[in-house]
Amino acid sequence: MKPLAEQIKQKPWLGWLMFFATMAIVFLLGLLASSIMERRAEAVFAYVKQVDHSQFEPRNEIWGQNFPREYQSYMKTADTSFRSKYNGSATIDMLEEDPRLVVLWAGYAFSKDYKQSRGHYYAVSDVWNTLRTGAPINGTTSPQPNTCWTCKSPDVPRLMNELGSAAEFYKGNWETKGHEVVNHIGCADCHDAKTMNLRISRPALIETFERTGKDIENISHQEMRSLVCAQCHVEYYFNKKKVEGVSYLTFPWDKGYSAENMEAYYDEIGFTDWVHALSKAPMLKAQHPDYEVYLTGTHASRGVSCADCHMPYISEGGVKYTNHHISSPLANPASTCQVCHRQETDKLIADVYSRQDKIIENRDKLEMLLVRAHIEAKKAWDLGASEAQMKDILTNIRHAQWRWDYTAAGHGSSFHSPVEIGRVISTGIDIAQEGRIKLARLLSDLGHNKEIPYPDISTKAKAQEFIGLDMKTMNSEKSVFMQKVVPEWLEIARERESNYAVKTMN
Ligand code: HEC
Ligand code: HEC
Ligand code: HEC
Ligand code: HEC
Repeated sequence: MKPLAEQIKQKPWLGWLMFFATMAIVFLLGLLASSIMERRAEAVFAYVKQVDHSQFEPRNEIWGQNFPREYQSYMKTADTSFRSKYNGSATIDMLEEDPRLVVLWAGYAFSKDYKQSRGHYYAVSDVWNTLRTGAPINGTTSPQPNTCWTCKSPDVPRLMNELGSAAEFYKGNWETKGHEVVNHIGCADCHDAKTMNLRISRPALIETFERTGKDIENISHQEMRSLVCAQCHVEYYFNKKKVEGVSYLTFPWDKGYSAENMEAYYDEIGFTDWVHALSKAPMLKAQHPDYEVYLTGTHASRGVSCADCHMPYISEGGVKYTNHHISSPLANPASTCQVCHRQETDKLIADVYSRQDKIIENRDKLEMLLVRAHIEAKKAWDLGASEAQMKDILTNIRHAQWRWDYTAAGHGSSFHSPVEIGRVISTGIDIAQEGRIKLARLLSDLGHNKEIPYPDISTKAKAQEFIGLDMKTMNSEKSVFMQKVVPEWLEIARERESNYAVKTMN
């Protein structure tokens, strides 16, 4: 073959042919690249608006008409089939699983009923169902305030807007707004209706940032991918001193996010969730400090957000969008962990389980110590101990159980920040034993120096009987409430919603 230059000299058209062929290939490659870029943006921008609705539209199915992919994936939070070793979306009766909890919460509503969360789809119906909200029938009231609805529904920002303030929303007993709060957590809780940008809809988070001097205007996009969750997945308490007659939702972050910081905050304001039925200790109940614990972990310090693991991107028919099926990341490690880690699925799951196993080993020990401490304290009271003799002991019990609950209440915490959780449990064990040494001395002063037998609390029923709960009446009243009251609430809501302004396009 002759060299190329010589061939072109003989047949000049060959040169032009090669020139145009190269140009055509470059052009096609350009088209391909631009189509890939466009597809990426498509999920957000290239949609045909089907309906026009307000920011305060609480119905997910209306928002869903504009964004069917996100909507359909979000509705999968109704699926309860996935179970991992300790978590997942199936209903798990935690009191049945671990009857010690009944004794730890004696005198508090959690000892009646505590189930593991299933998914956002059930947020409203689970709060109807739980015995903790009581059975407001025949003119009786619920033991809970309306504040309890706050993290359940996009009807909440709607009502706060209509009523003019958060305090007006929190006001009153739980049953007084039952007909208003009917849609489960959804689009309006996390999104701006015009731009679909992420949005903080709950005042408690904004107010905490204002109090602690964090600038809400300068939050990065990546931080927002965690902060939308931090509206609800946090430790909180009801402040009864802020607005007269109102249980005002407040996050105790003024001194920081750690177990010790929050404990110091509660001690300083003298806050108590309830007085323990056996030990009479002034107790704290940790809610679910998921965000606070996550902040102390390796992933947070490397800038990984809640959404990176719980709402990964997925591709479908060439369209990339955010999977709104929020659940355990172990249901699908390929689209969560493996985006960043090259290890095999089995290895990644084993990492999670080994951290959880090791944490639970010591957490169980702390629980047993706490059961013993409550029972020993009761014995001391029975033998005539004085308030002054009990004071330090009860503070030890309060602090030890708070630390246990801080580590147990967030179901992802053993993975989110295993080192911190392990540390907090150790301090809890130390404080519980400190209290029990004082108790042993006091009991011996009071003439008792034998071991106080550990009760038979091998099942939920036995433990509830041990603390004296009448479960039969509570259950039957609840079933009347579910059959009579809830359908009435839904009827009123349906009527109201039929009048909302929704404009269908074209
Ligand atoms: C718990 C908070 C939360 C809820 C509830 C929620 N989203 Fe999202 N949504 C997110 C997050 C986080 C992203 C990722 C945003 C980003 O990184 O820019 C997102 C992204 C989106 C996007 C941008 C395109 C994409 O897929 O990334 C759309 C559109 C969207 N969501 C629609 C909806 C709709 C419709 C609903 C109700 C059915 C809904 N979302 C409910 C948190 C939420
Ligand atoms: C408006 C309050 C609210 C917001 C915002 C919110 N959650 Fe939730 N979340 C809840 C409640 C309430 C439940 C329990 C629902 C139930 O099972 O009844 C829950 C349950 C869950 C579960 C348990 C589901 C399971 O499989 O066990 C996960 C995981 C979860 N949320 C993650 C997130 C993440 C991640 C975000 C942010 C992207 C977020 N949530 C935002 C209130 C909220
Ligand atoms: C968005 C990226 C990202 C995702 C998603 C992610 N990781 Fe990581 N992971 C990291 C980074 C970054 C580190 C820190 C590693 C380093 O700096 O050397 C880390 C560290 C770890 C570590 C060691 C630190 C520790 O806390 O023990 C484990 C184990 C781990 N990841 C497991 C997982 C599992 C399991 C999942 C899925 C549920 C997951 N990761 C999801 C980025 C990610
Ligand atoms: C690096 C990945 C990663 C990040 C980041 C992350 N999580 Fe998790 N999360 C997990 C894993 C893994 C589990 C354990 C799942 C299991 O045991 O099935 C979990 C469990 C949970 C659970 C309990 C789920 C269940 O099935 O009951 C909740 C709720 C939760 N996380 C919320 C959050 C919130 C809120 C944030 C941000 C503040 C967050 N997570 C950040 C990986 C992550």
